[in-house]
Amino acid sequence: MSGSRRVLVTGGAGYIGSHTAKALAAAGHVPVVFDDLSNGHAEAVRWGPLVVGDVRDRAALERCMRTHRIDAVINFAGLIEVGRSMTEPAAFWDVNLGGMATILDAMRAAGVERLVFSSTAAVYGQPDVGSLAPLRETLPTLPINPYGDSKLAAERLIAASARAYGLKAVALRYFNACGADPDGEIGEAHEPESHLIPLAVEAALGLGPALTVFGTDFPTLDGSCVRDYVHVCDLARAHVLALSAECGPQGFLAANLGTGRGASVLEIVEAVGRAVGRAVPHTFGARRAGDPASLVADPGRARDALGWTAACSDLETIVGSAVAWRRAPAFGRRLLGGLKAVA
Ligand SMILES: NC(=O)c1ccc[n+]([C@@H]2O[C@H](COP(=O)([O-])OP(=O)(O)OC[C@H]3O[C@@H](n4cnc5c(N)ncnc54)[C@H](O)[C@@H]3O)[C@@H](O)[C@H]2O)c1
Repeated sequence: MSGSRRVLVTGGAGYIGSHTAKALAAAGHVPVVFDDLSNGHAEAVRWGPLVVGDVRDRAALERCMRTHRIDAVINFAGLIEVGRSMTEPAAFWDVNLGGMATILDAMRAAGVERLVFSSTAAVYGQPDVGSLAPLRETLPTLPINPYGDSKLAAERLIAASARAYGLKAVALRYFNACGADPDGEIGEAHEPESHLIPLAVEAALGLGPALTVFGTDFPTLDGSCVRDYVHVCDLARAHVLALSAECGPQGFLAANLGTGRGASVLEIVEAVGRAVGRAVPHTFGARRAGDPASLVADPGRARDALGWTAACSDLETIVGSAVAWRRAPAFGRRLLGGLKAVA
């Protein structure tokens, strides 16, 4: 199917989902957001209707798909904090796998055949610790926490559904999502925040505590961890492309979304300091359990299958947009100057 589509964006009030809703609208599609607002913001839903609901509620999902004559689903809804998954594993299986199963059920009942799923580099676990080589989709998937387990299980359920009854689906394995909308309309507003760039920005702006750099003895150029940072607007564009991807005879495709270039924690600290005009206060801590030295994508499959490459994921653009958002967030917590209470 080509042309304008009516796309159900589950989890679309969240960080990556809201940027994708904006990209969908810009491409001529109609995003309909379905979100329980447990970790999202109604203010981030600006490009189509918001239906408040839980992805584990099959009847509500099917009703929404029929009412809005949905052609495709992009599922961002899920629990995202790896640390919490270690202490509350059942909740992650319930929402990340159970929610996906419920969405698939409702899609089948409503005759919706196209799905894009938010997956993660966490499905690879701790690949070949010490190696700095980019990761390909052909690597073994061996998650090391319940978050990664639940995402991999959801991928497998989707692949099995595609084989069973003709669903066409793409799982996009994001590396480190970061940055914000260049127009400043939406950005990253997680509570609690656990991602490096917003934490470094808050530290530099004096809005948060000093940053802890975990590990200084990794086998990387400067001893800190290396990750592949990809701008949220690049991620958003990949979802629009994935709606029309050829999924092959199996009906299922998994593709990495990253730049293929790594940046170390200390490089990020430097880049944030430059963007803010003030050094990021930081201390050094021990390695965290389960942190691989390097996680960098080989983005070749996304290039070949989706025609996607990162276009705005250079560090200056990423960090510049994250700083601009944190200086003047349109919504979220602890606005600069204490103008708004925690939201
Ligand atoms: N942020 C990253 O770096 C990253 C990396 C890899 C994968 N991912 C995946 O991408 C997706 C989006 O991540 P994000 O950073 O935008 O997270 P987010 O928390 O900002 O967005 C997730 C949204 O899902 C909603 N949600 C949660 N449980 C729900 C439920 N039961 N029913 C309906 N809505 C529900 C939340 O309210 C939120 O708006 C997640 O599935 C995450 O696992 C994110």
